[in-house]
Amino acid sequence: MIVGWNQEEMNNVFNISLLPGDGIGKEISVEALKILEWFSENTDLKINVKEELVGGISVDEYDSPLTNDTLKNISHSDAILLGAVGGPKWESLDFKKRPERGLLKIRKELDLFANFRPAIVFDALAESSTLKTEIIKNLDILIIRELTSGIYFGEPRGIEQIDEENKRGFNTLAYTTEEVKRIAKVGFETAKARSKKICSVDKANVLESTELWREVVTEVSKDYPDVELSHMYVDNASMQLVRNPKQFDVIVTTNMFGDILSDCASMLTGSLGMLPSASIGTKTENKCNAMYEPVHGSAPDIAGKGIANPLAMILSVAMMFKYSFLKPEYFDLINKVVNKILNDGYRTKDICMEKNKLISTQDMGDLVVEELNNEKI
Ligand code: IPM
Ligand code: MG
Repeated sequence: MIVGWNQEEMNNVFNISLLPGDGIGKEISVEALKILEWFSENTDLKINVKEELVGGISVDEYDSPLTNDTLKNISHSDAILLGAVGGPKWESLDFKKRPERGLLKIRKELDLFANFRPAIVFDALAESSTLKTEIIKNLDILIIRELTSGIYFGEPRGIEQIDEENKRGFNTLAYTTEEVKRIAKVGFETAKARSKKICSVDKANVLESTELWREVVTEVSKDYPDVELSHMYVDNASMQLVRNPKQFDVIVTTNMFGDILSDCASMLTGSLGMLPSASIGTKTENKCNAMYEPVHGSAPDIAGKGIANPLAMILSVAMMFKYSFLKPEYFDLINKVVNKILNDGYRTKDICMEKNKLISTQDMGDLVVEELNNEKI
């Protein structure tokens, strides 16, 4: 168990930090809140929610994308639920003040090293993909991305002046044995509970840091004789993901390769607005060890219009119930309800086809609550 409470420790009272962030983050958070309230009122869970600022909105208010006070508050909660950060308004700011830095700081400071990014094709949405339906129908893969090391955090980094006309920008890609070992273990444990197949993605033919990655993953695999390990170079993996995605089940990879491959995988499903994610660390006392957020960004172009799809955020709540609160039955319940709504033909604009019923962000949240009411618990 890498996350969550022991059954004895659990008293079913959970304090959640809700960080709506920027753009559509705010409106999808309103819908997620409805779902959290429903569970608090209708199940054995007692959920308290406290809102905090992160990203551009925090820059506007405090001149920092994540203040130390906010970091302290959220680190004492039982789980974090985040909407999205960023937008054109803050793009030209100094690097340290960019909204994305707030997100990266949470990941790093709370040591949320294991990022789970499922790419699942909902039956009713199989036709929305740009790929042929038979290639992606029933697709259910899981990318596990290392989230607190690699080129995102390696030192030295910076931009330096080398002569009057030329500057040099540089970053460092580095992994230690321990860092690879712990993410590999998460990968193998997860694969063991799924189809017992894992593909480790690296660029070991060119980069020493990932030559070590391959070596360590192979070493860890010896403890999991029932899990089949394969290795793939990242360029080939991106091609194979589009050619025949169903050959994969669990993929484990570095921070940056995971960033790129998970965007690619999400598009296979034809519905970026549907995908949740979990970022998880080892549980330590009084320290939050998990953050849940949609894979999509803050979509400033459609913010405030009531057309954003809140389902990735709502499914992130489902992941929270499963991974942090050990309530897989509520994860299943939310997924069942979402499936029912899609099968009934209701869609927000991003996934709406001609034959569907177009509804707003708010209507979608209300519909989820309505369907939850129709389910007997
Ligand atoms: C993601 C995003 C972030 C990342 C950005 C917003 C910093 O692209 O979560 O995939 O690069 O990790
Ligand atoms: Mg990304």
